[in-house]
Amino acid sequence: MADLWQDAMDHAVAIARRAGEVVREALQDDRKVMTKSSSVDLVTQTDQKVEQLIIQSVKYKFPTHSFIGEESVAAGEPCVLTDRPTWIIDPIDGTTNFVHAFPFVAISIGFSVNKQIEFGVIYSCLEDKMYTARRGKGAFCNGEPLQVSDREDIKQSIIATEFGSSRDPEAVEKIFSSLRNVLCIPVHGVRGAGTAAINMCHVASGCVEAYYEIGIHVWDVAAGSLVVSEAGGVLMDVEGGAVDLMSRRIVAANSRTIAERIVKQIDSFSPLRDDAP
Ligand code: IPD
Repeated sequence: MADLWQDAMDHAVAIARRAGEVVREALQDDRKVMTKSSSVDLVTQTDQKVEQLIIQSVKYKFPTHSFIGEESVAAGEPCVLTDRPTWIIDPIDGTTNFVHAFPFVAISIGFSVNKQIEFGVIYSCLEDKMYTARRGKGAFCNGEPLQVSDREDIKQSIIATEFGSSRDPEAVEKIFSSLRNVLCIPVHGVRGAGTAAINMCHVASGCVEAYYEIGIHVWDVAAGSLVVSEAGGVLMDVEGGAVDLMSRRIVAANSRTIAERIVKQIDSFSPLRDDAP
């Protein structure tokens, strides 16, 4: 049977590649930095330009589809997931990396129907790695199938996480407390690529066993959630139970055993939801 969303997925891959060219070209120029929710929550004109490029091209081809885009939400558009076909876009995941030319920068596009992610496309544009996942059909990097790591012993694992962009002292305290708990399990190491999407691709690729973070947004993790699950991984809330992409909390791991062990170490908190009125 023909895949209803294949055309949309092909378009997502093509537009992510085009967006990646724009990002690479912009790295040659001066990058004018602005701030959003805090002095360390950065945005550039390239984030806004790339988001418009993606939205305009999708609107032209799929005029009835909806959008949740990081920069559109920052500009006041609603962040509500309905049953309609919805493109969930992070034009530059790793904006701070982009500003500093730290070499992990991704274009992340998740596509949801009936509140279920149907496909995810993440283009790590400085590495030229195109990660794709289609629900029920596996996850790939540049066409090669992805499989999570089979390490079940957390003491032999690498865990990815990020410090995020909140500098609220209570949140920072909890982030450090969780990090100390994880590090002192002990694990082999803790890493962070500076982009949630690429951290999740690393879980899917098997080079890290788990990624967790509190404070991410739906556009950071929509595509990555499918890439991880289609590579055989597991998603969980930081307190256990089902992940809720609007809750700004996620654990993505190679297995339930590792995910549950991470959950035990996390000093959790609840940032304002993405879909809060
Ligand atoms: C950020 C990155 C970062 C994570 C933040 C995200 P942005 O996304 O994914 O790794 O720690 O929580 O907001 O702002 O670069 O799109």
